[in-house]
Parts: sequence; structure tokens; C-alpha cells
Amino acid sequence: MKSLLNGPDQSSHVIPRHVGIIMDGNGRWARSRFMPRIWGHKRGADSVRETVKAAATSGVKVLSLFAFSDENWGRPVDEVSALMGLFDHYLSHEINALEQQNIRLRVMGNLERLPARTKALLLQASERLSVRSGMVLNLAVSYGARAEITDAVREIAQRIREGIIDPAHVDESLLASHLATAGLPDLDLVIRTSGEQRLSNFMLWQSSYAELYFTKVQWPDFGAEDFNAALQEFSSRQRRFGLVEQDLRAEHSHTSTVADATAGETLC
Ligand code: IPE
Ligand code: IPE
Ligand code: MG
Repeated sequence: MKSLLNGPDQSSHVIPRHVGIIMDGNGRWARSRFMPRIWGHKRGADSVRETVKAAATSGVKVLSLFAFSDENWGRPVDEVSALMGLFDHYLSHEINALEQQNIRLRVMGNLERLPARTKALLLQASERLSVRSGMVLNLAVSYGARAEITDAVREIAQRIREGIIDPAHVDESLLASHLATAGLPDLDLVIRTSGEQRLSNFMLWQSSYAELYFTKVQWPDFGAEDFNAALQEFSSRQRRFGLVEQDLRAEHSHTSTVADATAGETLC
């Protein structure tokens, strides 16, 4: 049997197409070691590197990472600016490695609030890596799901006013196409580290039918083994999407997995 360290055995596992991670616990991890919170954020960047690699090799198509929330702007100025410095460092030092792994980079969130340098680095990196064809790494920075949905509604309302959209044609797929994740499948699996069991305004629309996986491991300690344990747990879950078991078998008998059957959107 294949070790968890070597990645999940893809022949017998259902691999989620889209995994989201709420990377939590950096501050507590550092504090419990009598270190400043920022030290936890620095070590958290190592976990990002390892997790991106684990996700790409496991066959996951999209990995969404919650790096900084709308609400995190309310943290002490020192911590916010240290985090921005870390994003800058990560982006400038990891871009080559991401390119070698054929990672496609996307960014979602209110970039206007970011320091000019961080915004420019994010845009440059996502533009340079947008042409790659491997796993999509979708970074949520200065992101809040309620703001994302509100923006989409405002955009649709504007198009209705301009006569471009008929209100009768506003449906779930139209709204989804105005979200920052347009073109990506819904989340299949949401992982949150550090023992907290909440979504904290992360991808509320896209996680409607996601499996939730909570681990007590703090983000700086999270690595490939923990990621693969989450994938293994996911593959043991039975997703029903509101149906009953026999309906599911009949409805999706032509597909290899339920996740495949329900995620028909294109990746771009
Ligand atoms: C997650 O770790 C990183 C960000 C939210 C930016 P935290 O900084 O929230 O760490 P805890 O939850 O305080 O331990
Ligand atoms: C969620 O973590 C945001 C990120 C991981 C970027 P928080 O630590 O900010 O969430 P709460 O405050 O515990 O809900
Ligand atoms: Mg936290």
C-alpha cells in the first residue's frame, strides 16, 4: 500500500477538483513558542509551498488559499504591514518555482486596498502564470465572500439598467459568472486548520455543497501528509447533493465520480 507521504493512491480515491484552505493558527503557533505572531506567518509560507506541491501532484485542479481576509485589515498596523511584506517576498521568490510546476495563478479580492507594490506583484505574477496549463492556484487576498457576492450583484444591476441583461435571465449560473471564481468549479472540499470550525466569510457561494474538514493542526505545522489525510477523508465521504443514494447511482452512472458529475464548469 502506498504511504500517505507519497501522496494518495489515485486509482482508488476520488480526488476533489477544487480544494479551499482557510490557513489558520499562525499567531497561536508562534505565541505558544513565545515568539511574535509574524514568526508564525513566516513559517506559514513554508506550509503554502509544501501544500501547493502536494495539491498539484495529487491531481487537484484548483487550490484556493485564504491568505488575507477583508476583516484582517482590522488587525494591528504592524501585523498587517508585516503580512504585506511577506506576500511581496513570497511572490518574488516563488514565481519561478510556481512556473516550473506549471501552476496557473489567479487572485481574488479587493486589490485596491493593498499597498501598490503588493498589488503590482500579484498582478504581474498572475499575468505571467495565467498562460500555464497545470493546477490553478487561486489566492484570496483582501477577500471577503459577502463583498464578492455584493460586487457581482452590483455588476448585474448595472447591466440590467443598461438593458444588457433581462431580469428574467438572472439565475444561479449568471450570478456565478460574475463572481471572482467565474469559470472555476465549485469547492468540493474546504480545509480549515487550527481547530476553528467556521468559514469566516470564505467562498460562501462556492462552498454550498463542499465537504468540510477541520483539523487541529496549526497552519505552520501543516504539510503534504496533512493535505493527503484530508484528501483521504474526502474520498470516504458520501456526497448526496440532496438526493437519495439510488438516484445518485442512476443519475451519475456514466461518470467516474460524483464530484466529476456535479462540476461541469470549465477551468480557466
Ligand atoms: C492565519 O493565522 C493567517 C491570517 C489570518 C492572515 P492567524 O493570524 O489568524 O493566527 P491565529 O488564528 O491568531 O492563531
Ligand atoms: C480567516 O482566519 C482568514 C484567513 C485565514 C486569511 P481568521 O483568523 O481571520 O478568522 P477568525 O477571526 O478566527 O474568524
Ligand atoms: Mg486566526
